[in-house]
Amino acid sequence: MKILVLNGPNINMLGIREPDIYGKQTFGDLLALLESTALEAGVTIEQYQSNHEGDLVDKIQAAYGRFDGIVINPAAYTHTSVAILDALKAVSIPAVEVHISQVDAREPFRQISYPGMYCEKTIQGLGLEGYRQAVLYLKKRYG
Ligand code: DQA
Repeated sequence: MKILVLNGPNINMLGIREPDIYGKQTFGDLLALLESTALEAGVTIEQYQSNHEGDLVDKIQAAYGRFDGIVINPAAYTHTSVAILDALKAVSIPAVEVHISQVDAREPFRQISYPGMYCEKTIQGLGLEGYRQAVLYLKKRYG
């Protein structure tokens, strides 16, 4: 099983950005977690992070026919991007949305998720562990 893990803007700043909200673990820690999760779940994980909406749309389109599942933290694009929602719908690959923070308990402008309207599950507030849970979920359901 092949899973694509996508991260949106500023996720590369983990460990530096607002540690009281996103924790002290770094983006490097996330990459290491994805590697160990791939071994644990017996899946292949490819990861991609971009600060640019169109790059994320391109990656989702390129996943068509190549990946069996998508784990996506669209970051700030969560709350604005109809383009990412439409790309997920276009490729129709099972997807899980992850948020490091508990978005539900934050500002009103974070209460809408466009990509979440396609994703079959949202995991939030678990820190980096949420990515692991998302991969294990896709493996269990589709692997
Ligand atoms: C986030 C939550 C978003 O609201 C925010 O813009 C992010 C990160 C999270 O993982 O908690 O950049 O997606």
